Amino acid sequence: MARPEELPVPIYKSLDPVYGTGSQLEEAELRFHNLKAKFTEFFGQAPDVYARSPGRVNLIGEHIDYEGYSVLPMAIRQDTIVAIRKVEGEKILRIGNVNSDKFSMCTYPADPDQEIDLKNHRWGHYFLCGYKGFYEYAKLKGIDVGDTVGLEVVVDGIVPTGSGLSSSAAFVCSSTIAIMAVMGASFAKKELAQLACECERHIGTQSGGMDQAISVMAQSGLAALIDFNPIRATEVQLPAGGTFVIAHSLAESQKAVTAATNYNNRVVECRLASIVLGIKLGMNPEEAVSKVKTLSDVEGLCVAFSGTNGSSDPILAVKEFLKEEPYSVEDIEAIVNEKLQSIFSESPSSLDVLRAAKDFKLHQRAAHVYSEARRVYAFKDAVLAASSEEDTLKKLGDLMNESHYSCSVLYECSCPELEELVKICRDNSALGARLTGAGWGGCAVALVKENIVPQFILNLKEQFYQSRIDKGVIEKSNLGAYIFASKPSSGAAIIKL
Ligand code: ATP
Ligand code: GLA
Ligand code: MG
Repeated sequence: MARPEELPVPIYKSLDPVYGTGSQLEEAELRFHNLKAKFTEFFGQAPDVYARSPGRVNLIGEHIDYEGYSVLPMAIRQDTIVAIRKVEGEKILRIGNVNSDKFSMCTYPADPDQEIDLKNHRWGHYFLCGYKGFYEYAKLKGIDVGDTVGLEVVVDGIVPTGSGLSSSAAFVCSSTIAIMAVMGASFAKKELAQLACECERHIGTQSGGMDQAISVMAQSGLAALIDFNPIRATEVQLPAGGTFVIAHSLAESQKAVTAATNYNNRVVECRLASIVLGIKLGMNPEEAVSKVKTLSDVEGLCVAFSGTNGSSDPILAVKEFLKEEPYSVEDIEAIVNEKLQSIFSESPSSLDVLRAAKDFKLHQRAAHVYSEARRVYAFKDAVLAASSEEDTLKKLGDLMNESHYSCSVLYECSCPELEELVKICRDNSALGARLTGAGWGGCAVALVKENIVPQFILNLKEQFYQSRIDKGVIEKSNLGAYIFASKPSSGAAIIKL
C-alpha cells in the first residue's frame, strides 16, 4: 500500500471530511459562503475550485530543519483557503483577500519567470512564490501545463500572521495546490511539500521544509516526525492525558522583513560554524567551503572526534573547536582562507546578512542545533516508550523546557514577551512550555494536563492578557484567537463544491 505522502492531495465535494461536524463545520460553511461572495464581488463570477492548507505548531525541533535535522510538528485547525478561477486571454494575476482592509488587491503579470520585488514586501508575494514554484516544478518534471493564463484569486486565512504558526506556509501551500488544481495537474503530497518548501524561499527567507511538509502531509489526530532529504512524515500518536495549549505573546515577527538580522543570519552562522568545524576536523578549507552546507554534513566528523574521547555527542567537538566568544569576519576568513563575500557570492540574501552582521556566534548556534536535534528523537522515543502516562508527559515537558532554554540562550530567537509568557505557563503548572516557530515574537506552546486546561487558560487570561486588554493592545472579545487548546488537524485538501 502506498504511504500517505505518496498519495495526491485529496479532493472533496463537501466540507465535512476536513472540518468534521459541529461548530467547526458551521464556521467553515460561513467562511466558504463569504469567500465565494467576496470572489463574486471582486470578479463577477464564482471560483472554479478551492484549496485549503493548515498552519502548524512545532512541538519540538526549532531552527534545525534547514540544517537537515528531523522536527516534530502538528497541524492546527486554523487554515488558509484559496479560491481560484482561470481566465483565458488576459495574462494577469489578480489576488484579493477577504480581509481587504488590511490586504489590498495585488496584481502581477501572469509570468512565472518574473522576479519577486523583495525590496517592496507585499502580501501577494507569497502567492507568487506558489505560482513560480508550480511552473518551476512542472518544467523540471517535463509536465506540459499548456500556455500561461490569467488567474483570479481570493485568499481567506485565519492562521494569525507573523505568529510562529506558519501562516506563510499555509498561504504558499494552499496557493500552490489551488494553482495545481485549476491547471489540471496532480502531484504527490511529498512532491508538493518539497516544491512548496523551495518556492517559499523566493520570499527571501532561507527557510527549511518543516512548515510546508506538515501543512501538506498532516493526518488528523496525529503529530508527525518529519525527516528531510528526502522529505518523509512518520505519524506520532501523542499521549492522551496531555493537551498542547497555544498562547500568543502579542509580539508580531515578520520573518521576511527581518531576515537579514534574524532568520537568515542564523542560517549563515550555522553554515560558517559547519565550515569551521569541517576545517578544524581535518578538511582542507577549499573542500570545506565547496562541500559543507549544514551542520548535519559535519556531524559524522564531530562524532568521530567525540568517539576518541569516549562520547558520541557532537557537542564535544563544538566545545573543543569553536570558541565561545563571537567570531569577527577576520577571524573566520583567517580560518577558511577566503573572503566571506566570496563564499556567499551566489546568495543575495546571505550577502544582506554579511552587510548587517557585526560578528558571528558559531559555538552557541552549533551547540543549539546539535542538542535540539537529539531532543527531537528523545521526544519521539518518550512518546513510544512503555512508561506510565504521567512519566511520559513529564519527560515531554522537560524536553520542551530544555528546548526553550536552548532557543532563548544559545540561539537567541526569543523576546521579552515570550519569556514572560513561558514563565507564566510554567508557574501555572504547564509540564513544559517553549516558543514555537521561528521566534522573535509569536506564540508559545505549553503541554498541560488535560484536566486542568480550562483553569490554565483562565489563569493566563488573568496573568498575561488582562493587562494588555486594559491597555487596549487586544480586545477581550478576541481572546479566543490568542489562546487556545489545539488538537492535531488534517493536512491540505482540494475542495470542489
Ligand atoms: P512562522 O514562520 O514563524 O511560523 P508566520 O509564517 O506566520 O510564522 P511569516 O513567515 O513572517 O510568519 O509570514 C507572515 C506573512 O505571510 C504575513 O506578514 C503576510 O505577508 C503573509 N500572510 C500569511 N497569511 C496571510 C493571509 N491570510 N493574508 C495575507 N497575507 C498573509
Ligand atoms: C520558520 C521556518 C521553518 C523553521 C522554523 C524554525 O517557521 O519556515 O522552516 O526553520 O522557522 O524552526
Ligand atoms: Mg512563516
